[in-house]
Amino acid sequence: MAREFTSVGVVGLGTMGAGIVEVFARNGVDVVAVEIAEDALERGRATLTRSTDRAVAKGKLAPADRDALLGRVNFAVGLAALDSVDLVIEAVPERLDLKRRLFADLDRVCKPEAILATNTSSLSVTEIAVATNRPDQVIGVHFFNPAPVMKLVEVVRTVVTAPEVVADVEALCARLGKVGVTIGDRAGFIANHLLFGYLNQAIGMVEAHYATREDIDAAMKLGCGLPMGPLALLDLIGLDTAYEILDTMYRRGGRDRRHAPVPLLRQMVTAGLLGRKSGRGFYTYE
Ligand code: CAA
Repeated sequence: MAREFTSVGVVGLGTMGAGIVEVFARNGVDVVAVEIAEDALERGRATLTRSTDRAVAKGKLAPADRDALLGRVNFAVGLAALDSVDLVIEAVPERLDLKRRLFADLDRVCKPEAILATNTSSLSVTEIAVATNRPDQVIGVHFFNPAPVMKLVEVVRTVVTAPEVVADVEALCARLGKVGVTIGDRAGFIANHLLFGYLNQAIGMVEAHYATREDIDAAMKLGCGLPMGPLALLDLIGLDTAYEILDTMYRRGGRDRRHAPVPLLRQMVTAGLLGRKSGRGFYTYE
């Protein structure tokens, strides 16, 4: 029988973490939402409130259901609040040292049977798993942005992930209304491996002044039926996140030149042009 997940923890309440909190709370699961500092916690809380208020304003969510959803989320600073959850999903920035340290701490704090999952999109789940004393209970659970909307979850098993942990997480994805695809541990998994070479080439076209950003986006949106063009999508993902993903895939994936970050991307990140979250990326946002 599939494992019951009555309470889950989410660590890191940036764009992805806050969206993942919403996914669980919308589906009746109690969530402990954790950040390292009060201001980051408040930003996460604001993201969740904005997203659920928008759903209410659109008539997609009844005010009482929004209140019930928010009532399922317990915000906390520090990992100690995760001592009784059945599953933790980590969604902190894409830095291996940071994630490995966090997993070692989670291993100490969480109950022994809890599953520890990472939302990493390009780092090695195996390297994260071996920072704990329970590598068989560590798995990748990769959501897509915006997490409340995108249907896919990549479930990443390592060579030591217990088969029942994989099966329990696959069942959980279905309960959340997501479609899970289960794959092995390689940089970028399926979607990012294919997507980011394309996004990188679009930045290359901007850098070369080959076409305007609007025309590049229009070409892919109107010519190929994609929901948004590559530059608008990069702004949604976050240019800092996109850089980290490309750089990691480049280094882990045999230095495939398609994944060598175009210099313009690095320059934009250095200049603080991070996309929607900073108000400016390839486009400007209010
Ligand atoms: N949070 C919650 N809900 C959101 C949302 C958000 N951030 N953004 C949009 N939505 C909801 C809207 O409320 C709306 O819901 P309803 O249909 O129930 O009204 C729905 O999504 C559609 O939104 P909009 O009408 O505002 O706009 P749209 O039709 O243009 O859709 C979009 C927006 C869903 C983002 C769409 O453009 C899209 O699918 N874009 C591609 C996104 C994509 O490729 N994501 C993957 C990125 S790669 C990744 O995530 C991997 C990684 O590791 C970085």
